[in-house]
Amino acid sequence: MRNDWSGQTFPHPAGRRPVVGDVLGMSADTPLQSAMEHAKGLGPIFELKIFDQKFVFITGAALAAELADESRFAKSLSPALVALREFAGEGLFTAYNDDTNWALAHDLLRPAFTKAAMQRYHPVMLATVQELFDAWDAGAEAVDVSADMTKLTMETISRTAFSTDFGSFSRSEPHPFIPAMIAALKAGQRKGSLNSMPGAALMAKRIDKRNAHHQAYVDSLLDGIIAERRAGEVDESDLLGIMLHTPHPETGERLDDLNIRHQILTFLVAGHETTSGALSFALHYLSRDPVVLAKAQAEVDEILGPDRDIEPTFEQVPKFRYLRRVLDEGLRLWPTAPAFTRSPREETVIGGTYRMRPEDWAIVMLPLMHRDTEVWGDDADQFDPDRFEPENARGRQPHSYKPFGTGERSCIGRQFALHEAILVLARVLHRYDIAGDPDYELTISERLTLMPEGFELMITPRVPAQAGASDTRPAPSIDQPGFQATSQG
Ligand code: HEM
Repeated sequence: MRNDWSGQTFPHPAGRRPVVGDVLGMSADTPLQSAMEHAKGLGPIFELKIFDQKFVFITGAALAAELADESRFAKSLSPALVALREFAGEGLFTAYNDDTNWALAHDLLRPAFTKAAMQRYHPVMLATVQELFDAWDAGAEAVDVSADMTKLTMETISRTAFSTDFGSFSRSEPHPFIPAMIAALKAGQRKGSLNSMPGAALMAKRIDKRNAHHQAYVDSLLDGIIAERRAGEVDESDLLGIMLHTPHPETGERLDDLNIRHQILTFLVAGHETTSGALSFALHYLSRDPVVLAKAQAEVDEILGPDRDIEPTFEQVPKFRYLRRVLDEGLRLWPTAPAFTRSPREETVIGGTYRMRPEDWAIVMLPLMHRDTEVWGDDADQFDPDRFEPENARGRQPHSYKPFGTGERSCIGRQFALHEAILVLARVLHRYDIAGDPDYELTISERLTLMPEGFELMITPRVPAQAGASDTRPAPSIDQPGFQATSQG
């Protein structure tokens, strides 16, 4: 994918070599983290050359804010997302802006994310968390957090969106969809970063061959879900029902079967990977900071009371304002969908200096943009949920916090993810005491999304504080306005 920026060059790591460019020192398994290492000291815009392919990264909040201007810029597909189109086609995430299926699916599926729809999903989310707790209560004390959060969010999206139970909690191994999906995401990541290497076509063929049985498995699984639903009663109450039975209200158009398969896959992947990572990072930081943990527990006790089996109502979920800040801060440091790509609609100049044409693209690297010291201060690397207290957030530069992307192509499932994640955190912290291994060092695996690896928690049954007893704990700060107040979309 050409990206020559009219021949301009940007700061790049020392030691660039002829032919291979900056490839030395880049890890194929953790490209984001090695690019973050390479970015040190290079300023708000830098480039990496991987063989012939130029990648331009934005790490400064001011430049990222410019690229967030929808009148001048739009989403573009990075090489990794282009590679993923072989798997997810014109699904919402991987569609080009002008693919007709994008507008059609976006219009059809928006009603599946309204407040009324969320109210329908709430009891399903609660029942799914309860299954996780049943498994925890029956099993060992140490739990593999990322694996369990993945099971949980996977079940939640498959049950709410497709009325399909993957039986994740009754299996000893993850559902085969999970390894197949991880293999496909990793294949996309590898093909995307190596696409300019000599012999790339051959390597891509090899990767595809290794991946073929996963692809065939996923296709047959999804076609099975579609066939089963077609054979049953017409039910338009979930995403699959809408896609199968609802025509576009103005044009009468419907999605075709191939696109429905791609959308199911997109929602199964986008609808759980990122949320399970967000929950796992939040639990990691909670387990590391006794003060933050105590504040979070005091909040859940105050809202839910002394019965550890009580479930939050739909209306209570937005009231966990401190939990929301914990989640927001985890997503600031480790935004689990860590980058998005932008191109100008017409030729323009960014940062007052750099010429950018519609065929050029820049990757906004969120973990670094979210640590821009101009916005977040010298302690930007530290976990501190109080950054999202309203008085601390007030006046912060617009568009400096973008874990859910930006503009028209930002995350359609944002409210779903926030509702689910807060509900899960509230129930976990109310019901269990959590303790991490003090020797554990945060290790992050990459498969386009980010996920803590090897992170275990010891969980023990907890007795929530009685009303009034919480006076002995640090008081939660629940003075934040509405549910959406802390993030800018
Ligand atoms: C913490 C959880 C989540 C995070 C951090 C996240 C992040 C993102 C980001 C950054 C984008 C924009 C990507 C780009 O511009 O290339 C995006 C798009 C998208 N997300 Fe999420 N997401 C989350 C949860 C969800 C959930 C729960 C769903 C579905 C139920 C979902 C479905 C989608 C879809 C379909 C798109 C593509 C939208 C479009 O282009 O029209 N996401 N997400």
